[in-house]
Amino acid sequence: MKTIIEPFRIKSVEPLHHTSREQREQFLAEAGFNLFLIEAKNILIDLLTDSGTSAMSTAQWAAMMRGDESYAGSESFFRLKRVVEDLTGFRHVIPTHQGRAAERILFTVMCRAGHTVPNNTHFDTTRANIEFTGARAVDLPLPESSDTQARLPFKGNLDVAGLERLITVEGAGRIPLVMLTVTDNSGGGQPVSMANLEAVRQLTTRHGIPLYLDACRFAENAWFIQQREPGYASWSPKQIAQKMFRLADGCTFSAKKDAFANIGGFLCTNDDRLAAQEKDLLILTEGFPTYGGLAGRDLEAIAVGLEEVLDTDYLRYRIASTGYLGRHIADRGVPIVEPPGGHAIYIDAGRMLPHIPRSQFPAQALAVELYRHAGIRSVEIGSVMFGENAKHELLRLAIPRRVYTQSHIDYVVEAILEVNARKNELRGFEIVYEPKFLRHFSARFQPLTGHGQI
Ligand code: F0G
Repeated sequence: MKTIIEPFRIKSVEPLHHTSREQREQFLAEAGFNLFLIEAKNILIDLLTDSGTSAMSTAQWAAMMRGDESYAGSESFFRLKRVVEDLTGFRHVIPTHQGRAAERILFTVMCRAGHTVPNNTHFDTTRANIEFTGARAVDLPLPESSDTQARLPFKGNLDVAGLERLITVEGAGRIPLVMLTVTDNSGGGQPVSMANLEAVRQLTTRHGIPLYLDACRFAENAWFIQQREPGYASWSPKQIAQKMFRLADGCTFSAKKDAFANIGGFLCTNDDRLAAQEKDLLILTEGFPTYGGLAGRDLEAIAVGLEEVLDTDYLRYRIASTGYLGRHIADRGVPIVEPPGGHAIYIDAGRMLPHIPRSQFPAQALAVELYRHAGIRSVEIGSVMFGENAKHELLRLAIPRRVYTQSHIDYVVEAILEVNARKNELRGFEIVYEPKFLRHFSARFQPLTGHGQI
């Protein structure tokens, strides 16, 4: 059979609410044209993020009932620890309430002013947590990946020659760790090859620099390696993931992505001295090391999710459904970051809306119009999110795991094509309020003249 179906059936449903265009106009104005500030009940299809938005399985819900809520020594923690150790090989598993808490603890322990942390592309919270310690976050994506249209199999790879130059200029002593984000979220949800991981490992070992994975979407990355990298076709996604983790010295992980959990994360390391310092900090802000800011039932959901996500049927469907959205809009003229990523499709709004300059946030204009037109929420990944560090003006359509069916995606395709047909009428925005950190969450905008006047 050629048709790839959702490899699950639906046992519990949540209603979606339609709104009128007039209502959406009002919600937009009230929210300062920032989609983060719109109430979720007024969103029809929510593609803001794939984080914490997964549908949990019957096995996960069942496991939650056996959650051991003991303050110390919870059985649920040891179950999670066994799963994570089997997957990653790391000795120390430190649970946190989500990925950024793991980042904050890791960077607080490892970084200070004068340090530089390279990554293929830092996610916004990763960059912010590094900069908060006074260190510098440097993105080293492949030079070829700057062309959004280039169809490379592993466009998330880190620029190894660039890393070598950086180490020479900075000196290894000022680089406390190198990170690799799998898949490269801000770079378009693109995978990193095993060969690239191995090359980065070799270089960091030579200079005595620890290598960490930002492992949020490790299973999707493993699937791309199996499908695209010579030598891995007969490996299971789990075997590939096990090898990926074993090339690193530690990881940060947001369980809100490839563990299908609604909350959670962890920090891993093999370094006993670091782990002791990390656990000290954990107790200050997250909790005792056997729960780290989570309920016992959350630890259970993560443990089960980490095994489910490596299922071949699931990963085949997952990557195919993201590709379905990508191909259906790209083949009809909407420029996307090629090839389609794992968890999301990124529209190259800079290319789609050349009449809106970067300073007027073309991807934000597109996000607003998609909501106004069809009640779809997406997120700007461009100059609003990254300021002057933005390399592109992208609009991300992130697909929650196991949540939407093909007809939902067909609706999204139809809406995007309709907006694309009258793209010349879209107008840009100016920022009228901005906070100090992570401004995309709460910035407020004002439309520049003529926006939406059709
Ligand atoms: N690293 C990457 C690559 C991420 O994509 C995220 C979150 C984090 C770290 C932080 O994890 O949210 O659990 O604290 N990304 C979400 C997104 C928010 O929408 O892409 P967190």
